Amino acid sequence: MPKSSIISKMSIRTSVFILILTSAIFVRVQAQSKPWIAPPDAKSLKNPIPGDAITLKEGGAIYTANCTPCHGTKGKGDGPAAAALDPKPADHTSVALLSETDGSLFYKISEGRKPMPQYKTTFTEKQRWELVDYIRTLNKTPKK
Ligand code: HEC
Repeated sequence: MPKSSIISKMSIRTSVFILILTSAIFVRVQAQSKPWIAPPDAKSLKNPIPGDAITLKEGGAIYTANCTPCHGTKGKGDGPAAAALDPKPADHTSVALLSETDGSLFYKISEGRKPMPQYKTTFTEKQRWELVDYIRTLNKTPKK
């Protein structure tokens, strides 16, 4: 095989490789703007911490200190840092949030998704469940 044809074969391979790589990156970027859905086993996790007065007080204190800059004091997703963020912080008073399981919220608080930080190393499991219980109080719509 002449040298030039080896080179052109290689450059075709390189181009194909680059094409696959760029489309993989593109798919990833697209995936970022997709709805954030917790995996099924995380969704079905049961909340072991009852939302009593002490829990809500503790959860509320953690929320005020750590979450309100983005999510806002009332959890509407309108904190001072929100304007600069994309995607926008979730509205914790929304109807959409009501349809999420406690396990799903726990997963999202634990894992994060840019620009939402990850909290599994910052807070204990108990503290993260307390946050879930507290978030539940932000939407005043009665549960059906
Ligand atoms: C730096 C800003 C920022 C901070 C601080 C932050 N969040 Fe978020 N949060 C976000 C953004 C942005 C999203 C939406 C992410 C997405 O859709 O990909 C989000 C989404 C969420 C969701 C998912 C809601 C849903 O319906 O899917 C939960 C739950 C949540 N945040 C809880 C918290 C809690 C609890 C804290 C504090 C411990 C916190 N966040 C702190 C930015 C932040």
